[in-house]
Amino acid sequence: MMQKQREHWSSHLGFVLAAAGSAIGLGTLWKFPYVTGENGGGLFVLIYIFCTFFIGIPIFIAELVLGRKGQRGAVGVFATLANHSAVWKGVGWLGVASSFLIMSFYSVLAGWGLNYVFMSLTRFYENRSAQEIAGVFDLLASSADITLFWHFIFTALTAAVVYRGIRQGIEYWSSFMTIGLLVILIGMCLFTATLEGFGKGVRFIFYPDPSHFHPSASIQALGLSFFTLSLGQGVMLTYGSYMRRSDDIPKTALIIAAMIIFVSLLAALMIFPIIFTFGFPAEGGAGLVFKTLPVLFAKLPGALFISTAFFILFVFTALTSAVALIEVVAANFTDLLGWSRQKAVLVVAVSSFIFGIPSALSQTQTLFGNWIAIYGKTFFETIDDIVSLWFLPIGGLMVAIFTGWFLDKEISHEEFDSGTTMRWMWRPWFFFMRWVAPVAIVFIILQQSGLLDVDAYFGSKRVAK
Ligand code: PHE
Repeated sequence: MMQKQREHWSSHLGFVLAAAGSAIGLGTLWKFPYVTGENGGGLFVLIYIFCTFFIGIPIFIAELVLGRKGQRGAVGVFATLANHSAVWKGVGWLGVASSFLIMSFYSVLAGWGLNYVFMSLTRFYENRSAQEIAGVFDLLASSADITLFWHFIFTALTAAVVYRGIRQGIEYWSSFMTIGLLVILIGMCLFTATLEGFGKGVRFIFYPDPSHFHPSASIQALGLSFFTLSLGQGVMLTYGSYMRRSDDIPKTALIIAAMIIFVSLLAALMIFPIIFTFGFPAEGGAGLVFKTLPVLFAKLPGALFISTAFFILFVFTALTSAVALIEVVAANFTDLLGWSRQKAVLVVAVSSFIFGIPSALSQTQTLFGNWIAIYGKTFFETIDDIVSLWFLPIGGLMVAIFTGWFLDKEISHEEFDSGTTMRWMWRPWFFFMRWVAPVAIVFIILQQSGLLDVDAYFGSKRVAK
């Protein structure tokens, strides 16, 4: 079958912003702070940054290299570059499955964000105590119809953007969102700097305190790093396939990783001072952002405006990530089955809505609300764990093994060189791909599977959550 002319990003900046827009999302704004809170702060942050630099960035580069060479979606890339080997195509499908699963709960979260836009507009927090404001989230999460309604709206919004294609849809929307988000985040951090708990918050985030840390948390740090960089799920493979030959792959990867770390730290700096000022528990779990931020907003002059603006941006940043998640899954259907973009997007969006229902209902008094009694975590958290602790590290591992051991060295060299001024990086990068990344990830996966117990080795026990 003749391959249709592939659509490409209109400019390098457009690509950087779209890729950054995909990467900066709820992982940075919502997940990073709460996982950091659960893992005791400073040392976890340090390991997260370490994982991002030494494992995340090399794999990020590898995905772009494979994508641009293969000129297909995640499955097609492996089909082309690995001679249709079923195993490697399976790796592509694993990435597609990860994206699909992430989308299923991502839209529930973003849906809650939409609800907060409306609550902000109606000033729900006026004349309420900090505890009351924080409690609103539990009411929302336990309401099946409201959560389902927003889950539906958000999925539909995402589908509408992807439906329009790469340039007018994804690239256009991602470009200014990222900048708006940065401005608001910095403004809020300036405000939290005036709070009494600021010093404690900063200490919590930056001071590595080993007594609150368990070595096994490094798996979570790696999973989080992959989640935030959108790795191991075919996203950057797909985005790389829309890159032009003149685009600089290593530089792009470095810029995006630096942006993500910066935004994650800003998000933490915005949230932890509030936690310490108002005496909330640092390990507040998945609702952390929704519980703490409105408390801050209620204190601010111009609360209505700031709170509305923040949650609109929250939703937009989720949207620029969600479009990537849907795009990755849909691109494979257009590539492999010859479906039109429109048909693929509709099928993927409807399935993702349906599959997201149990996550949406995970804190309600329904059948799915009981999951926690069976498994110990909500359905929502279970899906997140399956993806972040297993699928993403395995996907990343396979990308590293493929690039380091199976792909013709000449190919990666050539792709790496094209458009970059950082040619010298190929050698160290290749070494990382071949040795460091696979060994580190295998180690982490062994720990995760229980075959290895670093906590016991280091004499610390993981506390049950
Ligand atoms: N990186 C995104 C985040 O941090 C999640 C994501 C993964 C988005 C994959 C798109 C694709 O929220």
